[in-house]
Amino acid sequence: MVRAIQIKKTGGPEVLEFVDKNIGEPKGEEVLVRHTTIGLNRYDLEHRKGTRKIKNLPSVLGVEAVGVIEKLGKKISDGFKVGDRVGYCTAPPGAYCEKRIIHQKYLIKIPDDISDEVAAAVLFKGMTAHYLVNQSYKVRPGAFVLVHGANGGLGQIICQWAKDKKGVVIGSVSSDEKMKIALQSGCTYAINYNDKDFVSKVMEITQNRGVGAVYDPIGYATSKLSFESLGRFGIYVSYGQISGNAPISFSLLSSRSLFATGTSIYHYKHDRFTLVLTTMEIFEMIRKKLLTVRINKKYKFDEIIQAHRDMENRKTSGLNIIKVS
Ligand SMILES: NC(=O)c1ccc[n+]([C@@H]2O[C@H](COP(=O)([O-])OP(=O)(O)OC[C@H]3O[C@@H](n4cnc5c(N)ncnc54)[C@H](OP(=O)(O)O)[C@@H]3O)[C@@H](O)[C@H]2O)c1
Repeated sequence: MVRAIQIKKTGGPEVLEFVDKNIGEPKGEEVLVRHTTIGLNRYDLEHRKGTRKIKNLPSVLGVEAVGVIEKLGKKISDGFKVGDRVGYCTAPPGAYCEKRIIHQKYLIKIPDDISDEVAAAVLFKGMTAHYLVNQSYKVRPGAFVLVHGANGGLGQIICQWAKDKKGVVIGSVSSDEKMKIALQSGCTYAINYNDKDFVSKVMEITQNRGVGAVYDPIGYATSKLSFESLGRFGIYVSYGQISGNAPISFSLLSSRSLFATGTSIYHYKHDRFTLVLTTMEIFEMIRKKLLTVRINKKYKFDEIIQAHRDMENRKTSGLNIIKVS
């Protein structure tokens, strides 16, 4: 039996429940992974609340974990062996548990010089930041980009990655105190999005050209600022809707021939080749110190419900993990 945290219905932190599960044996291309560290993501909270669809309730939450392979199915073909350190972040939810059976196609080997904690903190967010700055809008040298939630877990990684691409990064945060975190994460400028002069400040920085792209996880509360900050042919990249849906119309887009896209990691990182290649890039960025993974808080497995309360109350700025062993 393994301990897991599941939900039977969506709702507040109170719907999270600890259960003992019989997970059986790995079959075919599956492996049994003993988790050491789980990544804590706002994505999990959104699954719990039901603002992101979660299939097949009851369901164990969690999209990202790192651990050690304990058993192999009979058809393992990707060179995995018992004792390998592995991680994953694109499998269906189910990471909030001590051990999990998972298909080999989702697994990534963790190199010796990358700790379980760092890998669990960065895989999901690094994978997302990678496609945002390379594909959704390719940041080129000198390009102005606006990153909302620049102090958030994913925000910090996007800012660092966009800076590495030599973009000029304007970080947007909810308070003056959080500007420091944005500046530490590679932003050249930081602005409080509650500042009534937000758009004028963006225009001053960009010499009235506006930004080439806005990366927005917040949606409703920030979308007006986002669209007003975009320059001609700029793109609004929505990768989350923390405060609700952003209102968009074709007349809004045609006001400056703008583009808008809503993105998902599961589309950009669905094939194994991309998954492995991106992981290598993330780890190389860390080795070269171009990407700093600052872990804000390490929760114990028993504290997952508290971790969700903290996320709900906006007390978990940055990258957070859950230690299983
Ligand atoms: N599309 C994809 O492929 C993809 C992949 C991964 C994650 N995501 C999404 O990315 C978003 C960010 O994830 P994360 O793990 O980086 O979250 P996080 O660490 O909690 O960061 C959230 C950021 O949003 C800000 N925020 C503004 N209004 C907020 C509100 N009403 N409630 C909470 N936060 C608010 C926070 O600011 P404060 O510090 O002021 O609270 C913080 O900067 C989530 O919506 C997640 O689902 C999307």
